[in-house]
Amino acid sequence: MIVLLKILHLLALIFGSIASLGNIYLGFAKGPHDLAAPDYTNTLRKFYRLTGLGAIIVLWITGVMLMFSKYGLWVPGSAFKAKIIFALAITAVVLFVNLMSPGWARRGGPPSYLPAVTWIGFISLVLVVVFAVAAFG
Ligand code: HEM
Repeated sequence: MIVLLKILHLLALIFGSIASLGNIYLGFAKGPHDLAAPDYTNTLRKFYRLTGLGAIIVLWITGVMLMFSKYGLWVPGSAFKAKIIFALAITAVVLFVNLMSPGWARRGGPPSYLPAVTWIGFISLVLVVVFAVAAFG
């Protein structure tokens, strides 16, 4: 059971990082002329944001289950605390983008600050992995 949970935890990490990088690469577009197929670009945005949402949900479910089954109610140590803080930051980014994007679509596209938000999510993801390894060895 624990092995299965950890496999799912790490698979969700793969899916989440693909979604995160995909959004960063879309953010490199210098303007609409770089995104010649707007419908497909919007489909990609939707795939990435739903992949990210699914990934963070699975990460929380499997993460909490791993914690309870291996360590109890909490994992002692500042590395795990830092891991959870950055996991919360990613969760905030993913929820924000998923909640706001229908409104952005109605108004003709995402706001100019979206690439900064996706960078915050990506850097937090890297830090979560660093602190996860620091916490669990
Ligand atoms: C963005 C979210 C997350 C990412 C990227 C992530 C990543 C990772 C990684 C890479 C490991 C393997 C570390 C190692 O074995 O050296 C790990 C393990 C673990 N994670 Fe997460 N995690 C996330 C969220 C969470 C959450 C929310 C919790 C709990 C509330 C959690 C609990 C755990 C536990 C308990 C382990 C240790 C499993 C073991 O001892 O075998 N994770 N995580």
